[in-house]
Amino acid sequence: LNYRVPRTRRDIFQTLIKGLQRLEYRGYDSAGVAVDGSGKDHAASISLYKKTGKVKALDEEIYKNNSIDFEAELDTHFGIAHTRWATHGEPSSLNSHPHRSDKNNEFVVIHNGIITNYKELKKYLVSKGYDFESDTDTEVIPKLIKYLYDNRENDYVSFSTLVERVIQQLEGAFALVFKSIHFPGEAIATRRGSPLLIGVRSQYELSTEQIPVQYNCSEPRKDEQEKNLLNRRGSTNALHSVHDRLAVEFYFASDASAVIEHTNKVIYLEDDDVAVVVEGKLYVQRIKRKAGEDPVRVIQTLQMELQQIMKGNFKAFMQKEIFEQPESVVNTMRGRICFDSNTVILGGLSDHLKEIKRCRRLILIGCGTSYHAGVATRQILEELTELPVMVELASDFLDRITPVFRDDVCFFISQSGETADTLMALRYCKQRGALTVGVTNTVGSSICRETDCGVHINAGPEVGVASTKAYTSQFVSLIMFGLMISEDRLSMQQRRLEIINGLKKLPELIKEVLALDDKIKSIADELHHQRSLLVMGRGYNYATCLEGALKIKEITYMHSEGILAGELKHGPLALIDKHMPVIMVLMRDACYKKCHNALQQVTARQGRPIILCCQDDPEISKIAYKTIELPHTVDCLQGILSVIPLQLISFHLAVIRGYDVDCPRNLAKSVTVE
Ligand code: G6P
Repeated sequence: LNYRVPRTRRDIFQTLIKGLQRLEYRGYDSAGVAVDGSGKDHAASISLYKKTGKVKALDEEIYKNNSIDFEAELDTHFGIAHTRWATHGEPSSLNSHPHRSDKNNEFVVIHNGIITNYKELKKYLVSKGYDFESDTDTEVIPKLIKYLYDNRENDYVSFSTLVERVIQQLEGAFALVFKSIHFPGEAIATRRGSPLLIGVRSQYELSTEQIPVQYNCSEPRKDEQEKNLLNRRGSTNALHSVHDRLAVEFYFASDASAVIEHTNKVIYLEDDDVAVVVEGKLYVQRIKRKAGEDPVRVIQTLQMELQQIMKGNFKAFMQKEIFEQPESVVNTMRGRICFDSNTVILGGLSDHLKEIKRCRRLILIGCGTSYHAGVATRQILEELTELPVMVELASDFLDRITPVFRDDVCFFISQSGETADTLMALRYCKQRGALTVGVTNTVGSSICRETDCGVHINAGPEVGVASTKAYTSQFVSLIMFGLMISEDRLSMQQRRLEIINGLKKLPELIKEVLALDDKIKSIADELHHQRSLLVMGRGYNYATCLEGALKIKEITYMHSEGILAGELKHGPLALIDKHMPVIMVLMRDACYKKCHNALQQVTARQGRPIILCCQDDPEISKIAYKTIELPHTVDCLQGILSVIPLQLISFHLAVIRGYDVDCPRNLAKSVTVE
């Protein structure tokens, strides 16, 4: 929303479309935008544009439209835009957002999340004569707000009151932004469970560093008029430019990458906050104050640079992120490991160290790649902490209603910090009194805010849907945790020293692995027509196989399975013949001999394995069909190096097969629905 900042309609479209493009990485199948209509009284109508497919297609459609006056200059304007990832109803223009209350577009809404009680609401609204045009859960929201508006008790009702009443009826998860012809120039946003932040840009200094939350403020008295309501709110409770009522722009978005090119000042909304912009001032209000709740929302300064979310010379974000790993792991370790004294300090955990050291069990919980980071580090955490360590997929953990106790320490591993299943598992563990630790890459995310303490992995923004650098940084973070906890154990000192030295050399070794890219590409050239690819290993590298197979599935659409070599003879061996491509991870560690046995079993069935092995392993080169030779490091860190060739293979396979590497079909970067 721009308030008294003149912008052409073209500028406004471009800002909205650019914002959507910055969020394309989250995964979507259709896009839409709503802006003020054309004509003299432009805010008296709303124009909607929607399209399936890429944001670019929507952009082209808008520019083809001759009836839009792109050069018209608008002093105050509020536009909304959305990319949809289908949950209810197929990807189609009708199902895409913004959704509207009626043919006149009196109220339009964009929504991330799922409304779980939409069927009941829809039934009620249909019985009241409201017609639905889509198959989505979202459409109940604009219909409901119109219903409340049409049935208001007084002539005047504020936009925010209507929204507060709407969200009282909603169950499920949502981030919502509302626009209405009845409240021109006003913007309302609210959230529960799905992320939402507000970027603030002003030519002048801002009026405050934090805004007080207003409670129970929007129930209008019977005779209350708009003016009174504004007076009651008071300008000291608002965020605006110090040149009162001049030159402010507000950007509502689900994550910072959409706003960073406009401003680095942001406010993160809490569940059930209703943010209102009226006359260029931002207010945050809530119906009730929760016990222990902080009654202010602080304006934070983002550290992110625009550069970090641009592709540069790489073909895809995923490729850029794979090649960033020598630096991203350094950023994860920066300021935390002292290589002279062999100490590790994770500042975000220091207040809870005693409690952590007293615990009886560690539980590592995540989804997808983040789960694999738990599998990868479980063994070394068991060794260093001498505690039982469970690694859990968040959804399954919840399905099982897993017993959790007060003396458990539960880790929630999540790149985005917003994955719904992981977030629900966090709330579940918190309720049972366990200490909760976040391991995330997104400062200010829900998991960060809801855990008792945590570690930011500091890998920098990850845009490619297929996670790469976040995995290696999660891996390093969990290892650092093990090192910190075992600091006062005499018997562990030798092992700790070995690992700390290994971490020091890691960035250089990652560079050596990345230098194998051409060779890896030639292997991908050979494999690209295959339908299936098995990845096999055991011990520290079992996680490498799971993660490598996940990368291959995600972006190349080939069937791929990560197989524990110890299980080979219990089933997967039946798949092996001279046609089935197999990648084996065979490193010099305690499992080397056992892996060799598996290799023999594969070659005995005429399998032609491509082997990821350590440099100088002549034995292997003799048996292998092809080898990718990696530098050797400490056993528990080897997985950081061995996963990289698999990241690269999947990237090259996807490119050769002609797929969009960063936006794989049907997948989303942040899965904020159950
Ligand atoms: C989605 C993404 C995966 C990611 C998983 C967990 O499925 O496509 O790449 O590993 O979510 O995400 P998180 O943000 O919690 O790490």
